[in-house]
Amino acid sequence: MPSQSHRIEHSPAQETLPPVEPCTLVIFGGSGDLARRRLIPALYNLLLDGLLPSNYVVLGLGRTPMSDEEFRAAVRDGVVNHSRQALIQDTWNVFARHVFYLAGENDDPQTYVRLKARAEELERTFQLPGNRIFYLSIPPSSFTPVCEGLAGSGLAGTSTARSPYARIIVEKPVGRDLASAQAINAVTGRVFDESAIFRIDHYLGKETVQNLMVVRFANSIFEPIWNHKYIDHVQITVSEAEGIGTRAAYYEEAGALRDMVQNHLLQLLCLVAMEPPYSLDPDVVRNSKMEVLRCLRPITTKDVERYTVRAQYTEGTAHGKPVPGYRREKGVKSDSITETYVALKCFVENWRWSGVPFYLRTGKALPLRASEVAVQFKEIPQILFNANAQAPQAPNVLTLRIQPEEGLSLRIVSRVPGTRAQTHPVEMNFKYGEVFGRPSPEAYERLLLDVMAGDASRFMRRDAVEASWAWITQILEAWEKQGQHWLPEYEAGTWGPVEADRLIQSDGRSWRVL
Ligand SMILES: NC(=O)c1ccc[n+]([C@@H]2O[C@H](COP(=O)([O-])OP(=O)(O)OC[C@H]3O[C@@H](n4cnc5c(N)ncnc54)[C@H](OP(=O)(O)O)[C@@H]3O)[C@@H](O)[C@H]2O)c1
Repeated sequence: MPSQSHRIEHSPAQETLPPVEPCTLVIFGGSGDLARRRLIPALYNLLLDGLLPSNYVVLGLGRTPMSDEEFRAAVRDGVVNHSRQALIQDTWNVFARHVFYLAGENDDPQTYVRLKARAEELERTFQLPGNRIFYLSIPPSSFTPVCEGLAGSGLAGTSTARSPYARIIVEKPVGRDLASAQAINAVTGRVFDESAIFRIDHYLGKETVQNLMVVRFANSIFEPIWNHKYIDHVQITVSEAEGIGTRAAYYEEAGALRDMVQNHLLQLLCLVAMEPPYSLDPDVVRNSKMEVLRCLRPITTKDVERYTVRAQYTEGTAHGKPVPGYRREKGVKSDSITETYVALKCFVENWRWSGVPFYLRTGKALPLRASEVAVQFKEIPQILFNANAQAPQAPNVLTLRIQPEEGLSLRIVSRVPGTRAQTHPVEMNFKYGEVFGRPSPEAYERLLLDVMAGDASRFMRRDAVEASWAWITQILEAWEKQGQHWLPEYEAGTWGPVEADRLIQSDGRSWRVL
């Protein structure tokens, strides 16, 4: 039965969000980890916040045979364990009435015949207008059969149509190099118009990441100094405390450069370095970001040793728990040269960023889970309070913390109270949780809502995915040419290899202590 409106509470944010029409969300990979831990909890939270459309259906697909009731019980567990807001049984009961499951093999054309029949039946029952979103939460090897199945069965409709619409969400990884990314884009592009393809990088849904543009373009004080004249360098860090856990099969094929830099770190770099877009139209914003990728200086075979460091963790301790060395993790080859850590120095070759290094680092089994962008400003002249060359003043740093505690801080130098003219660096801190008094929505909440609203600003456009892969593939090829059988090492639970320290220290700088 069509349900009543589910606006549980009136949220002020609602007013500014675009309206979303009733729709059917089909999750390929509904029985998988991502659906259970992230997607269903995100939908449930949207319902709690009164942001889901008045009517909707969630239809999960997977190979595991399950009834609707069994699927609801499985995803309920996901909500209990992973939801931002606690499960309220009455609200869950309302939500669960909209959740269904269909078992099928992605390669089997019959799956799409049955899917179409089921979707149409549910759309009739719930009086839905036929708007459909297909979420590819499946291994990339299934993308082609799913796209072909959707096209062949007519489920994808005419993807340029505005109403009813058919949209597709593509999970990362979109490829493992330029050629495979182009192949995925070609397959999805044959069936769906680019405006209907939403390539997820969940970092773009995080509050602080969205705030990067606001900080830069909604404040008058930053833009005049946001350039090579005032900025010494930028550091982007995404550190993970966990090792690879049970994901060896995936990670052995990926490594830190593909898994984190190609998407999250380069997207952050684009937001820091982009020119002001002339409007917030999705394509205008994405054009500005695309320009940054075009300006990235290639790291070729000749520079790869100078500008990149890759390494693997060895046995150590993380959060008091022993971690085996990477090569001893279950499912990892004993002679693996997959990098679990990477540090890069790169340059955006345009007027604004001329000569400003961007240092990027990411790794697994590091001391803590944290992500931040730190913009370090130039040193002041060596006079007045900075006259002592033996004890230079700490330069100003603007830090945007993405996780764990989203916020922003500015380091400034202040006078120490007392009779002596002593100075000391202090931090001006802003924490989202403290100021706005409520936790930020999870990235997947924001992004699922964007897809329902048809807003692609926070998704990766085809040209950007391919440009970032082109830049990354060059590094991968240069590494391959090095023909290494061994990588530098760092003990699990430490901040990476000494080689990474040397990369930045050789420029007279050092990594930030997080
Ligand atoms: N988990 C994360 O946090 C995360 C984060 C970012 C990106 N991703 C990406 O998202 C995708 C899904 O990840 P996941 O962690 O959910 O993986 P997963 O737990 O292994 O789940 C994979 C899902 O795909 C289904 N599936 C696989 N092959 C199929 C086939 N031939 N026909 C029909 N269904 C098939 C599985 O169904 P059955 O289990 O019923 O067989 C399951 O529902 C992957 O591409 C992954 O790289 C995941």
